[in-house]
Amino acid sequence: MVSFLLNGARVTVGDHPHLLAALREELDVTSPKDGCSPSGQCGCCTVLVDGKATVACSLALDRVAGRAVTTLEGLDPAERERYAAAFAASGALQCGFCTPGIVMRCKALLDRDGAELTREKAARHLGGHLCRCTGYHPILDAVELLARGGEGGEAPAGEAPVSPVAVGEASGGGATPVGVGSRIARYQADKLALGDKPYVDDLRVPGLLHAAVVLAEHARADVLAIDTGEAEAVAGVERVLTAADVPGERRVGLIHRDWPVFVAVGERTAYLGDVLALVVARDRETARRAAGLVRVAYRPLAPFADPLAALASDEDAVWGLEGNVLSRSAYARGDVDAALADSAHVVHEVFQTQRVEHAFLEPESTLAVPRDDGRLEVFSGGQGVWDDRRQIADVLGEPEDRILVHQVANGGAFGGKEDCANQCQTALAARLLGRPVKCTLSREESLRIHAKRHPIRIEAWAGCDAEGRLTALRTRMVGDSGPYASVGMKVLERAAGHAGGPYVWPAIDVEAVAVRTNNPVCGAFRGFGANQAQFATEGLIDRLAAACGLDGWEMRARNVVAPGATWGPGQVMDDGCQGARDCLEAVRPAWEAARAAGKAVGLGLGLKNSGLGNGFVEVAKAVVRFCEDGTVEVRHCWTEMGQGVHTVALQVAAQELGVDPARIRVVVDTSRELGAGQTTGSRGTLMGAGAVAAACRAACEDGCRVGVDYEGEHRVDWTDALGTTDRPTIHSAFGYAAQLVIMDRDTGAIERVVAAHDAGRVVNPLLCEGQVVGAVHMGLGYALSEEFPTDDQARPTATTLRQLGILRAKDVPPVDVMLLERPQPRAPYGIKGVGEIGLVPTAGAVAGALCDLDGEWRTTLPLRPATRR
Ligand code: FES
Repeated sequence: MVSFLLNGARVTVGDHPHLLAALREELDVTSPKDGCSPSGQCGCCTVLVDGKATVACSLALDRVAGRAVTTLEGLDPAERERYAAAFAASGALQCGFCTPGIVMRCKALLDRDGAELTREKAARHLGGHLCRCTGYHPILDAVELLARGGEGGEAPAGEAPVSPVAVGEASGGGATPVGVGSRIARYQADKLALGDKPYVDDLRVPGLLHAAVVLAEHARADVLAIDTGEAEAVAGVERVLTAADVPGERRVGLIHRDWPVFVAVGERTAYLGDVLALVVARDRETARRAAGLVRVAYRPLAPFADPLAALASDEDAVWGLEGNVLSRSAYARGDVDAALADSAHVVHEVFQTQRVEHAFLEPESTLAVPRDDGRLEVFSGGQGVWDDRRQIADVLGEPEDRILVHQVANGGAFGGKEDCANQCQTALAARLLGRPVKCTLSREESLRIHAKRHPIRIEAWAGCDAEGRLTALRTRMVGDSGPYASVGMKVLERAAGHAGGPYVWPAIDVEAVAVRTNNPVCGAFRGFGANQAQFATEGLIDRLAAACGLDGWEMRARNVVAPGATWGPGQVMDDGCQGARDCLEAVRPAWEAARAAGKAVGLGLGLKNSGLGNGFVEVAKAVVRFCEDGTVEVRHCWTEMGQGVHTVALQVAAQELGVDPARIRVVVDTSRELGAGQTTGSRGTLMGAGAVAAACRAACEDGCRVGVDYEGEHRVDWTDALGTTDRPTIHSAFGYAAQLVIMDRDTGAIERVVAAHDAGRVVNPLLCEGQVVGAVHMGLGYALSEEFPTDDQARPTATTLRQLGILRAKDVPPVDVMLLERPQPRAPYGIKGVGEIGLVPTAGAVAGALCDLDGEWRTTLPLRPATRR
């Protein structure tokens, strides 16, 4: 037993591995979040111990005895409000999972330094904190705002109001003060900032059991036996589940049902994220300790760790799945051979991108609760409630209406929470035991299980005429998709579609193959293949520009898509594509100024589709209801993961209904079929805004009667699958971006990134800027340092957050954001979506700047630093 002061009151706790476990599991203090315990590498659990900022997950309990621990719950209300308001006003939080820890660090710094706290000093002190969403600059803005208020003082006179609901002014265009186009704070930003909005692991129910997974020890091995006896004998263990306990389907998946929820005895593992067993116990520590006692006998086999070797082999990489080619996507227009032969300049390169981890800061967590009516309630932080429900029902062998999946706002996802991670196993445990079960993955388990961004080998030939007009492109891509499909075939399809970038290629010939290996599964990740493809495209454009004697800006300007031009797979571009040239023109002054100043400069131009496209019929619905108590409910079923879809829903409703936003409640409703599909592909804002607007208009036409559910729908049903027509409309909308990376020639440091983005209509400039800055941060990491490598045994060699190469606050250069608005035809309000495009051009721009600096063309990500001359 250990006693200490918690927020001024004496508490005594039992045995726990660290202070964070005592706070969260025994004392029910949940503002400190657990992103990586017990490694102390993310900072999400930072608390004050005797006034000093300390990560609670790496502090042994006996070191706290008799000391004073302060969490956000213990700050006085005025101080809480001040921090929440500053973070909300600055856009300093998105998913919010990192924010409570950062707020506590900021409090310690401000208590010590007050108005003396500078932005630079704060950035250095935030070195122990990761934020995967914001790009850190908005956090530093909040710190500056607080510091200017003086130590413990009030916000300075003349500062913009920082109400958590309304901040700043509408951006014009006839917007209402909080409607579409307004710079308002994120919905529920105050709750997020203070750690009061629960993530799945913060949920508590009576009689809760905890589960821990047992993962494969070899990437490819026959499973000879699983002995659960020793684990079952541990006091507090309720049950150990294996494949034999699954009553329904054992393989699940978003597209192909090929991903086993448990690998059975007599089968073969396919990667190190395979689940062999699930231990359910009275508490998490017991479950995890017992999981280590499950004995599995293996016959190890040589894994397929090289996708080219897997492609060439007749042997199946994955047991039970025939062939190692997951998918092949191809299209061609024109005579590429003849066009290349006639070209004044031809370049040929092989590019290689790396595998990358999402590193969302909230590890996957699922809570399943049996209900008295026989249904099973599942609380999931996934990105697609309907897919979760279908897969859980399949595994349980039950009809879908027996499963009610609640979508809980998550602590970041970026595509990494589209597949089920532990939802099916947790639901099965709850169903079999008849008790609530929660399974929260450790950071290492999370890293091993969920899908990554594909490493893709891209071999390309590109040509242009003597004036720099592009003539032809041939691209061959091979993506390492890992063992299970996830959405790997769609990622490679998207990479193929985007292979030409936002340029006009009179002749084009593209093929992209997704290969099954025993490396980590690869699937959806912000950019969805467009990043990899356009890293190569931009490299080709720069090389051709050099061959022609043109600068990079001029080369792009001569070839950028224009309305009526034929793009990539044959799509005739609409007026929305004018945004690509708008972005180029917007960065031109900065490009010329930087070059005139002797800086090393790289330019990237990119496009990214919004929505699913490729012939899918996309339908999103929303419901608006005027309630008896005067509130207005807006119901949708999109996952809020920091991108701001709730805020978009609120702004659209405020705009259409003309009601005070304080009256509007945004509710994620999964009790009815609102048909949104996955929250993915930059589609939440586009589709969600359309659906909410339609619901509001239905309400207005009917006089907004109290108690009536007004349903609205937004439908996109005019896209074509690749290869179904000569002039397809593959995608309904694209976002565009041009980015400059400006480097100091003496130090090789990136001084500044200039990011011009066309998002169609900007629903909320504060949140839109946040998406761009956060994406640039992620794009710079992708370019320079991030990687999730594996060895020749297909074993990840990065097992902690620190090893992933994620940039910290002091590493992110200033980002100048320019938001442009070239409306998208046929889209609600002209919205294009901005979630992914922000990191598409970045790696190419960094490669260009490095080449400008030292003359070396780079083809491999992450990029080598500049050679000093
Ligand atoms: Fe920082 Fe999401 S807001 S990790």
